[in-house]
Amino acid sequence: MADKDAVQESKDYYVDIPMKSEPFALRGSNSLEWGMKNRLSNIFNPKTNRTVMLAVDHGYFLGPTSGLERIDISIVPLLEYADTLMCTRGILRSTIPPTFNKGVVLRASGGPSILKELSNEEIAVDMEDAIRLNVAAVAVQVFIGGEYETKSIHNMTRLVDAGNRFGVPVLGVTAVGKDMARDAKYMRLATRICAELGASYVKTYYVNEGFDTVTAACPVPIVIAGGKKMSELDALTMASNAVGQGAAGVDMGRNIFQSDAPEAMIQAVRSVVHADMTPERAHDLYQTLKNEKK
Ligand code: R5P
Repeated sequence: MADKDAVQESKDYYVDIPMKSEPFALRGSNSLEWGMKNRLSNIFNPKTNRTVMLAVDHGYFLGPTSGLERIDISIVPLLEYADTLMCTRGILRSTIPPTFNKGVVLRASGGPSILKELSNEEIAVDMEDAIRLNVAAVAVQVFIGGEYETKSIHNMTRLVDAGNRFGVPVLGVTAVGKDMARDAKYMRLATRICAELGASYVKTYYVNEGFDTVTAACPVPIVIAGGKKMSELDALTMASNAVGQGAAGVDMGRNIFQSDAPEAMIQAVRSVVHADMTPERAHDLYQTLKNEKK
């Protein structure tokens, strides 16, 4: 208890200085509640309003895919370079050290394996458990144009309602079916639907033509998935183009953990996302860090 004796007289009221009340700068998020903003600040670096999310949730339908066979060995050493980790609750509880104190985005939908119709997902995590795990957001797959489109959207809106009760943001993840065009028109449709129906931010894929119209038409932040493994320079170029055209960062998995040098790659990605380093310079950085590690 505070000591009652020898209390200093309070005097620093700064009566001539208006109280600071800064707007919350993350796109489309200024009207959110404090807890929601606080969680989003654990995903998006408040200095850049961008994020490097390390995505390792692939096992929820793929099992132990290449690079994720042993998350304790391949992924835990990368955590210090990520702003945020995207994973399932099984991996979080079993393998991620609880001392990891950055944002966790929890995969909250699932059901079908790679052997079945992927759009037939259900909500796979109760919001109470997400809060127990102290996550920064939950992520749900949305299959616009997919066989179970409405069901997947309903999964998202139910999570949005639950998240709004407790201040937990929802990441809408746009899943593009094999037979769908991966173009700006589709991405505009899918990302806008997620935002309209309450997602706090949206993950989509980069497209070479018209990506700036995708980010312009989406009133909340967009992050891009990395997609299939490509050369390090191509992946860095894609990340650079995406942030240059309005993306708020990346949610990248395979192009980091399937790289020859994942620690070097994630640092190169960071330099593109947070420091606007050119892809060529970031690739030089990748090579330097890779050689240092040898
Ligand atoms: C899909 O399996 C997950 O949502 C991944 O988190 C997402 O696809 C990002 O990972 P990648 O960069 O490997 O595409």
